[in-house]
Amino acid sequence: MARVVITRRIPGDAVQTIEAAGHEVVTWEGELPPSPAELRTFLEGASAVMTMVTDRIDAAVLAELPGLRIAANMAVGYDNLDCPAGEAAGVWITNTPGILHQTTAEFAVALLLSAARNVTASDRDTREGGWKTWSPTAFLGIDLHTATVGIIGLGEIGASVAKVIRAFGSRVLYTGRNRKSELEASLGVEYRSLDDLLRESDIVSLHVPRTTETTKMLGAREFGLMKPTALLVNTARGSIIDQDALVVALQRAEIGGAALDVTDPEPLPLDHPLYSFSNVIITPHIASASVGTRSRMAECAAQNIIAVLNGEAPPNPVNRPPSPR
Ligand code: GLV
Repeated sequence: MARVVITRRIPGDAVQTIEAAGHEVVTWEGELPPSPAELRTFLEGASAVMTMVTDRIDAAVLAELPGLRIAANMAVGYDNLDCPAGEAAGVWITNTPGILHQTTAEFAVALLLSAARNVTASDRDTREGGWKTWSPTAFLGIDLHTATVGIIGLGEIGASVAKVIRAFGSRVLYTGRNRKSELEASLGVEYRSLDDLLRESDIVSLHVPRTTETTKMLGAREFGLMKPTALLVNTARGSIIDQDALVVALQRAEIGGAALDVTDPEPLPLDHPLYSFSNVIITPHIASASVGTRSRMAECAAQNIIAVLNGEAPPNPVNRPPSPR
């Protein structure tokens, strides 16, 4: 019987799935994630861990856990886990592809619409007594059906956003490392360089993973290229944006607003200047948070764990240890 550790309470039946495969499951019951020190202690003796985006596993942690065989991230992004360190230590690292793209895309579109049509700002104003009369000039937003929407990263989430946005009648541009001619045709999207996409778009939505190349890929120079009315949506990772530069761009009204489901750090401290802008929406990293999707993400992580504990390669590896433990 192997010991499987799950670093937070999870929805769905994944715990039972792992137990039914004959393993012991221990769940961290705290509302808050374990601290790095607590995580190390909690992982002692574990053969497998189901990690969340709030957990960091690196070479130092792995060195203390000779029995660990897999870290299965309950997320599609895995920038919290050190894949090369896992490879060197013989530890598989896996993610949850093909599950959360539509749910995340739906939330990105929700943010995009909320920003474009002042949903959260007008709700806040109404609660504060600001609704005095019908106004011909209050909360004028951006039409989606005449807008140009720029998607940075046409992976499974970006492509799902493009599909939904195209249904509004918007023109959709994309940029990414590679041109995707088949998707251009099937989705009706047009390729642009990053700079041209930023210049032409009324709304820009980020869908790239966080890597060394994408960290702070949008900064002062890029905000300077955007239209002064343009909106920026981020459901990817906070550090893809240079947040200090974003604050300055908002202060100088170089862009029209931002909707951020991810920030750097998370949670964003309550005294952060981003909270002071009425044209900024901040949500607590919930783009994949639907009952069905989060349950399927946990089930996927469970299947990866079970495979490795059976001595097989996991279905969703993001590293390839040459000599798995
Ligand atoms: C969530 O942020 C994920 O990467 O799945």
